[in-house]
Amino acid sequence: MLPQRVFIHEVAPRDGFQMEARFIPTDRKIAFINLLARTGLTKIEATSFSSAKAIPALADAREVMEGVSRVPGVEYAVLVPNVRGCERALAQHVDEINLVMSASDSHGRANLRMTPEESLVHLPEMVALASSHAAVNVSISTAFGCPFEGPVPERRLFDLIGRVLELGVVRITLCDTTGMANPLQVERIFLTAQANWPAVRFTAHFHNTRGMGLANAFAALRAGIVHFDASLGGLGGCPFAPGASGNICTEDLVHMFGAMAIETGVDLPSLLGAAANLPELVGHDVPGQVLKAGASTRRYPAPLQLRCG
Ligand code: COA
Ligand code: ZN
Repeated sequence: MLPQRVFIHEVAPRDGFQMEARFIPTDRKIAFINLLARTGLTKIEATSFSSAKAIPALADAREVMEGVSRVPGVEYAVLVPNVRGCERALAQHVDEINLVMSASDSHGRANLRMTPEESLVHLPEMVALASSHAAVNVSISTAFGCPFEGPVPERRLFDLIGRVLELGVVRITLCDTTGMANPLQVERIFLTAQANWPAVRFTAHFHNTRGMGLANAFAALRAGIVHFDASLGGLGGCPFAPGASGNICTEDLVHMFGAMAIETGVDLPSLLGAAANLPELVGHDVPGQVLKAGASTRRYPAPLQLRCG
């Protein structure tokens, strides 16, 4: 039996905008987040408190958090890579602090200058700081494969999850940072994770780098996952992971669930309205498909003269 209700977390303002070469003005970021907050999404990752040198596109994290108009029922999350970022996030009104670590040494060093073992040294302080202030989620990058090292042993991933949970964390996101996951792997990993830790809220975070994104989302659903990260228009990607490209596209994901009569709580026309602004906002075309094709309920007029012979 498939879950009948899922929850979509929008990550375009963070995972999407962090990858954009052109700086998106702060007031436009704020307007975009405010628009998204009125579509029925349950969570929006609004920015990240990363180093402005590492992620110049999100150097205005504080101004963004100060500027958004809060919509009741929407959680406003921020990504935090280190203790310094945690301290900066603590000064803001945020509902969730999304701490990030990697499952592989090479990506951890490239993205955070910390191997997973080193992240685990700093995590207790970060979790203690963050949980005094907001809900805490830990995102594990390269959980399904690393662009530098290849497969990440599942034993290693489960060991890392177990050690993060020892810190009292109850929300974990498993991230397929560069679209290396396949559906059977996704189903197996999420089934095992939930069997091992049934009280934990697991979120699936997929990138569509190799066209497997929605298939992976369906595999996670079949494993019982009901929390999904997705990015409007399919924007996204980690600047420190070679070959990274966009997340699974929010409107395509909402459309897929809707077609299967699985409730998302999201209003697809509103979402498509927001997505229609994206090419102008970011200055290039975006990968989302439903905006271009229309929903599967779309009908075309039949040709008037049918040649039936
Ligand atoms: N917020 C603001 N400034 C930060 C910061 C943060 N979270 N983390 C580091 N800095 C600053 C340091 O204070 C330092 O400033 P200075 O040069 O004026 O002294 C500068 O950034 C560089 O610090 P450095 O010591 O070289 O790096 P670090 O080890 O402290 O920080 C990272 C490394 C990985 C945290 C940082 O490079 C980063 O934020 N990376 C981005 C991670 C990310 O968001 N990836 C994509 C999403 S998964
Ligand atoms: Zn991502």
